Amino acid sequence: MKKKVTQFNYLTQTERIRLARKSYSILKRNHSIIREHSCAKVMNSLFLVSPKVFRINPSSIFIANNLKINHEEKVLDLGTGIGFLAILAAKKASKVIATDINPHAIVIAKKNAELHHVSSKIEFRLGDLFEPLDNGEIFDVIIWTPPWLEMEPKSILEKAWASANISLMIERFFQGVNFHLKKEGRIEMIFSNLGPLKILLNHIRLNNFKILTVSKMRTRIEKEEIVFFRLSKESGK
Ligand SMILES: C[S@@+](CC[C@H](N)C(=O)[O-])C[C@H]1O[C@@H](n2cnc3c(N)ncnc32)[C@H](O)[C@@H]1O
Repeated sequence: MKKKVTQFNYLTQTERIRLARKSYSILKRNHSIIREHSCAKVMNSLFLVSPKVFRINPSSIFIANNLKINHEEKVLDLGTGIGFLAILAAKKASKVIATDINPHAIVIAKKNAELHHVSSKIEFRLGDLFEPLDNGEIFDVIIWTPPWLEMEPKSILEKAWASANISLMIERFFQGVNFHLKKEGRIEMIFSNLGPLKILLNHIRLNNFKILTVSKMRTRIEKEEIVFFRLSKESGK
């Protein structure tokens, strides 16, 4: 039987730079209108939001709709923001560790976990990627919603969507995965063709992960495609 090949909508470097600038401006504007101590209704539930923390956007809903968490799994949510995916995962998981580099995110995510009565299941930790974890901590699932615009972030908030070196971040992510994901575990993540998608796919291959599921979403930005990946080293997951 012929193997199914997934087609990705790769952009040229010039297109990526132009559309990344556009995406950056939209994200910046969307966050400038958020009031301190306000709420947002997402998937019929209320969440506290803050102008200093990434607000849930269509890409968050997209990964939420694709996310697969089985009963009693141990989950790591890397870059939790206001805690949306960690809270969703906690409804099934036995335990969730949620990390973020933004201290304001940790504060608001803890409050949202209380609001959703899942505080006893989630532990929030401040830090860069896997840094807040102990050596022996391993997970069934790692959720990752990384920044993908290759630009210098001008504030802690902007680290949610921009990084000066996305390729290095992807490399560091897979180094951490190899320490903290169970042999038969899964990665549930999203990425965009406005970021270095080819480099991500290269790391997936080099680290012997198989793409179990791919799902794509178009955005308001012409030619942008956000991709959901379910990855595992085991084919039967
Ligand atoms: C695109 S937002 C996603 C937030 C949330 N998971 C969601 O889907 O709504 C990315 C999040 O990752 C965090 N982040 C960015 N770089 C990070 C790093 N190196 N280590 C930990 N968290 C990071 C940001 O502060 C931000 O909250």
